[in-house]
Amino acid sequence: MKAVVYRDNGGPDVLQLVDCEPPVPAPGEVRVRVAVSGVNPTDWQARAAQAMAFPEITPHLDGAGVIDAVGEGVDQSRVGQRVWLFMAAAGRATGTAAEFTVVPAGQAVPLPDEAGFDVGAALGVPALTAHRALTVAEDGPRRLRPGALAGKVVLAAGGAGAVGHAVIQLARWAGATVISTVSSPEKARLATAAGAHHVVNYREGDPVAEIRAIAADGVDIVAEVALGVNLALDLAVLRPRGTISTYANDGGHPVELNVLQNMVRNTRLQFLVLYTAGPDVRAAAVEDVAAAVGDGALPVGEEHGLPLVRFPLHRTADAHRAVEGGAVGKVLVDVMS
Ligand SMILES: NC(=O)c1ccc[n+]([C@@H]2O[C@H](COP(=O)([O-])OP(=O)(O)OC[C@H]3O[C@@H](n4cnc5c(N)ncnc54)[C@H](OP(=O)(O)O)[C@@H]3O)[C@@H](O)[C@H]2O)c1
Repeated sequence: MKAVVYRDNGGPDVLQLVDCEPPVPAPGEVRVRVAVSGVNPTDWQARAAQAMAFPEITPHLDGAGVIDAVGEGVDQSRVGQRVWLFMAAAGRATGTAAEFTVVPAGQAVPLPDEAGFDVGAALGVPALTAHRALTVAEDGPRRLRPGALAGKVVLAAGGAGAVGHAVIQLARWAGATVISTVSSPEKARLATAAGAHHVVNYREGDPVAEIRAIAADGVDIVAEVALGVNLALDLAVLRPRGTISTYANDGGHPVELNVLQNMVRNTRLQFLVLYTAGPDVRAAAVEDVAAAVGDGALPVGEEHGLPLVRFPLHRTADAHRAVEGGAVGKVLVDVMS
């Protein structure tokens, strides 16, 4: 089979296309013929700097394809099932940038016939992160389903980003009023197409006043991508006992916290990363995201606010360059020709 591998940390040029034997599923695993591999910032960050846990690594956590073999203990009837994959390369050498990959059976989630492989490959990191961001508030909900966020106001920072897009879609599916910040009219169009009820350009005018005019009682949950830059805005629009769910500090701006102000407001500052969220939280997120996919609530493509930026497998290095360079939309690698 064809696979992309790297044998040392470094820039995108360390990625090589090689011919190798397809992996054999161990007990409890499934082997998936990958159709589309999804690229996330964590993939290039791991390639660039994460200590090599294996002599050779195939990158990418996310993907979608068809199960073609199962290991001992896995129901044989799963062969032929369309699936989406999450955390394929986490602690393993066999990510999704290859014609075949193997994952524990639970990390291959059935993909309904109505959902394309592009949808499946875009789910893992963005949707599971968005789920976590929306389910850590003091007064819940812990699970998402239609109506779970009814009456709540969610602020999705950077709604044209991959995670921001998933925050908008999941929050909207769960019944929240969704506000999103963006940096340009083009990104405003995307956040609106994703389902945001209100879009605020954070680079113009008075974004705090604009958000306050929409949410007079304050925002319940902020899903934050750039905490250092946005903390002052977040606190200015957050309701007492509101939650700031932080999944990144893009821009790297230092975070200065006014402890007294946050005590008085009973702010909940929740930091989150998928790897350490814990198996129960991840399992719940997978179930809810699968239900949202079943409802057709997580479409991708420019018309749904997430342009697709595609590369063939042999150009995986360019796919990494695109993500690292801040491509707008979802970067995908087409594996099955
Ligand atoms: N904790 C986790 O488990 C987890 C999971 C997934 C991703 N992440 C991290 O989250 C970040 C985003 O990932 P992604 O895949 O969504 O990347 P992406 O598709 O490139 O999106 C990043 C978005 O952040 C926006 N942004 C940057 N600064 C902003 C600001 N001050 N205010 C509002 N929006 C701002 C950008 O829009 P503008 O440039 O227009 O502002 C862009 O839309 C990365 O750092 C990634 O490593 C963490």
